[in-house]
Amino acid sequence: MARAKTRSERLGDVLLVPVHWLEERSGLIGGLKYFLFRKVPRDTNWFHTLGSATLTAFIVQTLTGVVLAFYYKPSPNEAYSSIQYITNDLTLGWLVRGMHRWGASVFIILLFLHMGRVFLFGAYKYPRELNWLLGVMLLVLAMLEGFTGYLLPWDQTAYWATVVGINLNATAPFAGPFLSDFLRGGQEIGTETLSRFYSLHMLLLPGGLIGLITLHLYLVIRLGVTSPPWSKEAAGSEREEVITAKRGLVEPRPRGDGGVAGVRGRPQL
Ligand code: HEM
Repeated sequence: MARAKTRSERLGDVLLVPVHWLEERSGLIGGLKYFLFRKVPRDTNWFHTLGSATLTAFIVQTLTGVVLAFYYKPSPNEAYSSIQYITNDLTLGWLVRGMHRWGASVFIILLFLHMGRVFLFGAYKYPRELNWLLGVMLLVLAMLEGFTGYLLPWDQTAYWATVVGINLNATAPFAGPFLSDFLRGGQEIGTETLSRFYSLHMLLLPGGLIGLITLHLYLVIRLGVTSPPWSKEAAGSEREEVITAKRGLVEPRPRGDGGVAGVRGRPQL
């Protein structure tokens, strides 16, 4: 006869009702479990945390940016005073603004460190070339995010740094003049420029970044992460042992291969 459940077990069952409800209808919990408990190389090390650190910095930027957007006023007459209000009068406004301002540098530094790790580990090699290309796009968008955010306080530094930035863009061959006209939004840096930079900074670029990060992480889960270069299973090396564990959402197949996983002499994925 089945043992009667204890009180805490019954309580646990009740608490899990919403989780089961969601899983039955969406499969999201199973997906999350797959993500958290998937196989990674046994010699994964601290360098592999740089991608997640970059992601954390991006999330901090998004959250603090949303709070700032509640109070920031994107017009030349009010931008500077709204920033002053956030910094000096708003409860913990100085903290949120400071986190967003310094966090921007942290984000870019982590991005380069992560990219350096990927490069030194040879993780851009087959079959991860597409993820490298997505990464390059992420890098460009992240730099543009920094550039467009710099103008928003509308102080002397912001204004003149943007003048220099836009003039630099104008020197690019062919596209330069169009690019600088597009960014300036008129003959001079003014209301139009600020609106453009604000819209790019808080709508288009973050939207693009979120989309690309989603694709980037999908490919990380699908392909698995690379072992360090000193490992027997480093990217690009011949595989020596038979792999039985499933490593991605879908087992990736090398080019021109019948699809049987783990055969000796197969390039390492
Ligand atoms: C917003 C920016 C980025 C985020 C949030 C991000 C996030 C991640 C995460 C969480 C991983 C898995 C863990 C790890 O390997 O660290 C990863 C892997 C990877 N990332 Fe990024 N990344 C970003 C930018 C870049 C850039 C700029 C590049 C290169 C140009 C890049 C190329 C790759 C590649 C090729 C992998 C696979 C690494 C492997 O298999 O070992 N990522 N990324």
